[in-house]
Amino acid sequence: MNNNEIFASASSWIKEAGERIKESFKTTLNIETKSNANDLVTNIDKETERFFITKIKERYPAHKVLGEEGNGDTLKELSGVVWIIDPIDGTMNFVHQQRNFAISIGIYENGVGKIGLIYDVVHDELYHAIKGEGAFVNNIRLHTLEEATVSQAIIGINATWVTPNRRIDPAVLGALVKDARGTRSYGSAAIEIAQVAAGRLDAYMTLRLSPWDFAGGLVLIEEVGGVASTLKGEPIQLLDENSIFISKPGLHEEILKKYLGNKKW
Ligand code: IPD
Ligand code: CA
Ligand code: CA
Ligand code: CA
Repeated sequence: MNNNEIFASASSWIKEAGERIKESFKTTLNIETKSNANDLVTNIDKETERFFITKIKERYPAHKVLGEEGNGDTLKELSGVVWIIDPIDGTMNFVHQQRNFAISIGIYENGVGKIGLIYDVVHDELYHAIKGEGAFVNNIRLHTLEEATVSQAIIGINATWVTPNRRIDPAVLGALVKDARGTRSYGSAAIEIAQVAAGRLDAYMTLRLSPWDFAGGLVLIEEVGGVASTLKGEPIQLLDENSIFISKPGLHEEILKKYLGNKKW
């Protein structure tokens, strides 16, 4: 695939989609719930996904699309060129705050991440990476990540995981939260992964994400020398739900060893 040509298309479409989303602030949203009362989806999530699918199928008929709202292809494997799209990551923020949400796109060729784009629409920050060419925010190159330690780290983590929940003993991450310099929770996995790539967060972790939440971000992280795995330190499966642990080097090892590795959970 021609990475630069496809990136040019993707970045112009993502900006156009961002403009449409901002226009929607003037309209009344149609809000529905999905798996539970707090799992929201709006007409704009669906329209934005359809916007990308129409553009992609018109320009690149052989490419496949995997999108959160299900308007794309049903995929069992990642052969060929696949666009993995979250039309709005952070729908709850979109509905409640009209900010702190992003469009996330990861473009993979035979399972290898080639292009990642995360567009923080309201702050007009476009993070992008092209495999082998580095990662950027608004075209300014991001630095390679340096090693960090827990005591100096700001960690992106949602309070859910340090209170009783179905997936992890709250004491495991509670100990980490206590030892870290600070924690943050932005409510958009894509933005949080992009913040790690930009060095604004030292790590981000969560117990369950879907491919469209992390596909774009993984390309960014690889280009800045970050480490990405599940919370058990295993490789992330691109087409499955995974726990996700993204971090600066050094810090990733320290957290796995001291907090995650020696506990049964
Ligand atoms: C959600 C956001 C949120 C994360 C959830 C995701 P959505 O995506 O990324 O930060 O904690 O797990 O589902 O539904 O707003 O696209
Ligand atoms: Ca959703
Ligand atoms: Ca999402
Ligand atoms: Ca979404």
